Amino acid sequence: MSHANTAVIIPAAGSGERLGVGIPKALVEVSGQTLLERAVRNISAVAQLIVIAAPPGFEEQIKKFFTEPSVVVVTGGKLRSESVANALKVISPDYQFVLVHDAARAFAPTELAERVLSELIQGQRAVIPALEVIDTIKVVNAEGFVIDTPDRSALRAIQTPQGFAVDVLKQAHATGSDATDDAALVAQLGIPVKTIIGEPLARKITTLADLTWARELVGQS
Ligand code: C5P
Repeated sequence: MSHANTAVIIPAAGSGERLGVGIPKALVEVSGQTLLERAVRNISAVAQLIVIAAPPGFEEQIKKFFTEPSVVVVTGGKLRSESVANALKVISPDYQFVLVHDAARAFAPTELAERVLSELIQGQRAVIPALEVIDTIKVVNAEGFVIDTPDRSALRAIQTPQGFAVDVLKQAHATGSDATDDAALVAQLGIPVKTIIGEPLARKITTLADLTWARELVGQS
């Protein structure tokens, strides 16, 4: 499924410090393909334009991965929100929908993006994939003491791609606020954010254990 007015933003400017491999995480290879290339290939079927926020200094290297004119590379920022805001600047108001998808969630299937987009086409303005949490989650203070145990049944682990009406995401980023996901900025505007069932394959590659999972997934351990 594709919709004629859909753009995708791929924030890929993270340093990957927690992975500790010395290069930006998006450029780490799994079975001969970088996480960024996989993320782009897996989502390209739903988009007419893909904007990648590259780690500063890696723009030219990344441009060489993608020869298609529908892929545009911009420079990312220090914070994820800045990277998304930089990418949003090149998306014209002619686009109706935008999906923001972490390069680090390179194995998210196309079908997940299609389900997000389908909700937007049906009129939702903000749609995010969510998984029930398995562990009990606690809020702790700076000294490490527990101060709260939220009801687990109401908690969700949130993934990407997150989908928005373009005007909604532009309004959310115009505030200049920062958050770890785009839906948080949209929710601050009072706009309802709908969750749909997420996908274990959309796991964020963050640690070496995640990278091992990815390599086993593609049969390369
Ligand atoms: O740091 P974290 O794992 O939450 O990053 C999620 C995604 O956001 C990754 O794909 C990363 O490359 C991207 N990112 C970015 N600009 C930053 C920080 C993270 O594009 N300054």
